[in-house]
Amino acid sequence: MKLIVYRNEREASAATAEALASAIVRHPAMVLGLPTGRTPLPLYARLAELREQRHFDASRVTTFNLDEFWRLPASHPGSYRAYMERHVFSRLAIAAGQVGFLDGMAPDAETECLQYERAIRAAGGLDVLILGIGTNGHIGFNEPGASLRARTHLAALKPQTRRANAVFFEGDASKVPGQALCMGMGTILGARRIILMAFGRGKSKAIQGMVQGPVTTRLPASFLQLHADVDVVLDEGAAERLAASQAG
Ligand code: PGA
Repeated sequence: MKLIVYRNEREASAATAEALASAIVRHPAMVLGLPTGRTPLPLYARLAELREQRHFDASRVTTFNLDEFWRLPASHPGSYRAYMERHVFSRLAIAAGQVGFLDGMAPDAETECLQYERAIRAAGGLDVLILGIGTNGHIGFNEPGASLRARTHLAALKPQTRRANAVFFEGDASKVPGQALCMGMGTILGARRIILMAFGRGKSKAIQGMVQGPVTTRLPASFLQLHADVDVVLDEGAAERLAASQAG
């Protein structure tokens, strides 16, 4: 894993946006895997500015999102599709035909997951996958536990994850869907390149475990140690336990 520590979230996001924009200039038809959450918002905002200033053209880029709520229409403001339309697809002018998304209203979860895996393979696989990390070390809805799923699957949300998502559900965690479709750890590790971003001291324990701890299903992000090309983009807060242990 390559650790890159910036002074703050803004600098980290700007540098990552520039690196991605350059990659898209070099490979205009690249396949991107993308997350939702709070972490990538400054990255998406900066990428949108760079696109609007014509630093790159994303019209040939294909995207696949990490996850989506199960049994929530895409039109619901709390859906990940709605988040992506708002922050990414409209602003980067990515056409609907180039957007790969798990359909939370699909008739059958298993069939939907298999189709998603097939669609990623048919697109040639993920060239770059951007990830965040939960304070408990989860990646998407791959939560800590006795086991992890390799491929795209239907996952049950932990109470803390439902609480963290309540903002688009009138602040009421009980209105957040209890299940979601999510890429599996094998799908994630199949990406050619991974960029994981984490900001703030609240993430520092998960980052320490991911980088220095054992590979364990108890901290799903630790599986990224098995991948040959992972950039870990941090601010000083998220890196603080790494610095302490390196100094000590
Ligand atoms: P966040 O979520 O970006 O909103 O912190 C990350 C995650 O929980 O996966």
